[in-house]
Amino acid sequence: MHFIRNIRWVLSLLIVMVMSIGAEHAYAKGKHGHGKTNQTTVSQPLSAAEEQQARTLYSKTCVACHGQRLEGVVGPSLVGVGSRYSLTKIEQIAQRGKGKNKPVSMPAGLATPEEARLLARWLAAGPKLPADAPGSGQAK
Ligand code: HEC
Repeated sequence: MHFIRNIRWVLSLLIVMVMSIGAEHAYAKGKHGHGKTNQTTVSQPLSAAEEQQARTLYSKTCVACHGQRLEGVVGPSLVGVGSRYSLTKIEQIAQRGKGKNKPVSMPAGLATPEEARLLARWLAAGPKLPADAPGSGQAK
């Protein structure tokens, strides 16, 4: 039993060490690197898992109004939305909706803050959708 306890202790020590090395590394980069760090407005590239998650989320929550290929249905096309709005703005819209006083509006509360953030990053990156046929990616 002692042996197992020791192993666990060593393992957790290792994990802590690895984490602190990672943190130092990030810190050093921030200190010496050029350009700004902590830029929350700049999108990090999505991992494959995040991409998949965003896709699923979009087709569950947004597709009815914005279309399979972001082409727009009752809502406007979201093609190139990243060049019209900041990441933060898209995130905000995904969470709070848009156009409350217009005849057709987008309701608030469609996505949790985390989901909104992910969707914003995904949309801002100009996602390539699998259903994309040649020439169909652009808004009319
Ligand atoms: C019930 C239909 C509906 C759903 C569902 C919906 N939207 Fe919208 N969306 C709209 C409408 C309508 C507008 C335009 C509002 C306005 O400007 O008056 C809009 C606007 C937007 C805009 C701004 C686009 C622009 O060019 O002004 C973004 C970004 C957006 N939606 C993202 C999303 C995301 C992400 C989801 C899924 C979480 C989503 N929408 C779900 C109807 C919808």
